[in-house]
Amino acid sequence: MASYDVIFIGGGPGGYVGAIRAAQLGLRVACAEGRETLGGTCLNVGCIPSKALLHASHMLHEAQENFGKMGLSGAAPKVDWPKMLAYKDEVIGQNTKGIEFLFKKNRVDWLKGWASIPEAGKVKVGDAIHEAKSIVIATGSEASALPGVEIDETTVVTSTGALALPKVPKSMVVIGAGVIGLEMGSVYRRLGAEVTVIEYLDHITPGMDGEVQKTFQRLLARQGLRFVLGAAVEGVEVAKGRAKVRYTLRKDGTGQTAEADCVLVATGRRPFHDGLGLEALGVQLTQRGQIAVDRNYATNVKGIYAIGDVIEGPMLAHKAMDEGHAVAEILAGQAGQVNYGVIPSVIYTHPEVAAVGATEEALKAEGRAYRAGKVSFMANGRAKSVFAGDGFVKILADAATDRILGAHLIGPAAGDLIHEICVGMEFGAAAEDIARTCHAHPTFSEAVREAALACGDGAIHA
Ligand code: NAI
Repeated sequence: MASYDVIFIGGGPGGYVGAIRAAQLGLRVACAEGRETLGGTCLNVGCIPSKALLHASHMLHEAQENFGKMGLSGAAPKVDWPKMLAYKDEVIGQNTKGIEFLFKKNRVDWLKGWASIPEAGKVKVGDAIHEAKSIVIATGSEASALPGVEIDETTVVTSTGALALPKVPKSMVVIGAGVIGLEMGSVYRRLGAEVTVIEYLDHITPGMDGEVQKTFQRLLARQGLRFVLGAAVEGVEVAKGRAKVRYTLRKDGTGQTAEADCVLVATGRRPFHDGLGLEALGVQLTQRGQIAVDRNYATNVKGIYAIGDVIEGPMLAHKAMDEGHAVAEILAGQAGQVNYGVIPSVIYTHPEVAAVGATEEALKAEGRAYRAGKVSFMANGRAKSVFAGDGFVKILADAATDRILGAHLIGPAAGDLIHEICVGMEFGAAAEDIARTCHAHPTFSEAVREAALACGDGAIHA
């Protein structure tokens, strides 16, 4: 039996970052992980592999759509699907091995196997029981089930199956126009599939800024994605490798069907904490099945903490990483904290979508006086030179103080540009602070500055 200051359960972005940080702060640390590789859902079957497939399929799109315009000619590339999957697996391998290396470097013990907590202060992995002054649950989330839909991960898949389909389907129905549905729907559309996205709400990407939602849907439709909005999926039947999706249009209650070679169910995720023994320990859950924690990530059971997708808040890898960082600092006697007002969210389609802080809809509902500065990427020379003029940057600033309240971007490198705003918000910046900062020309980031200028007296290129 080994004894530790802290054992993290789960080696995903929350657990592995927390474990490394805790070790850096001088604690004796272990991390239990049952998968064959570290990195959790994000590295193995989520963020990282999907980015590889998004990149490969975007390159194909560029070759088909834009190479000719730039005077590049030659044989059109063909999709070698097994090779594309091998490239994706290579990317996963590099990243998961990287974490294994960091564990060794920081002297974090990897307890290989699925863990449970027989009692506070003890973690069981396989037959071994390890002692720990503190235990941090970072077990993440899993795809939530949709009643009437049975997942086989071949014809009816979650994001996990969608990252390893046996072949590129001719047709695909995506249930849910959220992040996973649109990222993976984009991949297969670009690879040649007919993609239909069926969404319960009357708009895509719930929670996003309304103008972004409309522009994003228009641009995805232009790329060939078909949308059926306001439709509740009620069931999927599979016969001879083909799926029939039954749904009801909410406006008139009519029943419809859609057939496809593959159905991706992307209707959200739920916290995963099965098998830990939480019920016997008396760990309190929220009504939504998340582990209830206080502001120091402590559960109601002394010595047991929880972070990441398994607790409240957006299910985002970087939110879990920040919480891992914070809980490690708290356990080391420091003042770890996360600013939940400044957590960016990004959709890695083309164009990218990124957001931070309040939406216009939320500010209106609050009755808050604000100014919106918005500029199109069409007025950005760099964007136009790379066929990326679609989209805009919108900054929202307090009408009285000019303090930045939020930003909503759709366009080239939006997922990177958003961080200029995040840093500004952390420093309590006014839109004018960004407007007065020299931005290199020609860069996409000039659109951010122009949007900041548009919050005040006006942008130059608008
Ligand atoms: P989501 O919550 O983003 O979207 C689910 C969508 O499914 C919603 O629009 C919902 O209205 C719709 N829906 C639910 N039931 C339905 C039904 N019966 N019929 C039709 N539509 C229905 O969930 P998603 O895309 O599965 O993602 C899960 C989590 O993973 C999210 O929290 C997301 O933030 C995270 N994630 C983040 C990524 C990123 O940051 N780029 C990438 C992938 C996932």
